[in-house]
Amino acid sequence: MATTETRYGNTLLRIADTAEALYEAVAKAIAETIAQTLREQAYFTLALSGGNTPRGIYTLLGNVYRQWVEWSRVHLFWGDERYVPHSHPASNYRMAYETLIEPTAIPKHNVHPMPTQPLSAEEAAQDYERHLRQFFGELPRFDLILLGLGVDGHTASLFPYTQALQEKTQWVAVGEAPAEPTTRLTLTIPVLNAAKRLYFVVGGSDKAEVLKQVLAGIPLPAAMVRPTDGELVWWVDAAASKALDAV
Ligand code: 6PG
Repeated sequence: MATTETRYGNTLLRIADTAEALYEAVAKAIAETIAQTLREQAYFTLALSGGNTPRGIYTLLGNVYRQWVEWSRVHLFWGDERYVPHSHPASNYRMAYETLIEPTAIPKHNVHPMPTQPLSAEEAAQDYERHLRQFFGELPRFDLILLGLGVDGHTASLFPYTQALQEKTQWVAVGEAPAEPTTRLTLTIPVLNAAKRLYFVVGGSDKAEVLKQVLAGIPLPAAMVRPTDGELVWWVDAAASKALDAV
């Protein structure tokens, strides 16, 4: 499914006609990026986003594009997680397990979920940071981080006016969401901005206004995601892009 590439200010946008075309385009781009990268390095580190939008993407990666990727050389992490058991319907891990992890049979040691209960949220954040430090040794530079956009401008679980959003030292913080589940775990801005590639995926007319605000530089959390030395692509569908007068 083709997308239209355009720029809004100095931001690169790839616009798909429909939500289904968006999921197809992003899944294909992820599979191609992984395959290309694995020609040059031993493994690929991918941080997954949660919520509803990615479900369609992970489902395609788990079936249509499954054979494009050598999953034994892909390590899955999470950009954020709800502080609920992994079996909980709201768990980002559970959604990824059902759509991507189970169908691809990615090796268990390649899957790095954010821990939740019985650890406290603070202990879980510290535990994940320790895990990232063991794996990356230094500030993580993920090969690709997937991100969504909330109607309030949040991304990952970095919500407006929260301490996690201001965190500049910790790599993993406890996020506070206005809606249940309110307690979250999230990568922080320094880790997001260290990524080699950041893909925002935004669909639906309910995101049109906030997308315009973020791209216009309104200081919402998602606008703080600016890779230091990486590629940032906004993958959107036509409905989400309708408020962008430049389009
Ligand atoms: C989460 C996500 C969150 C999500 C946005 C958009 O755990 O919910 O990581 O940041 O990407 O809330 O969610 P939708 O894709 O469901 O609109």
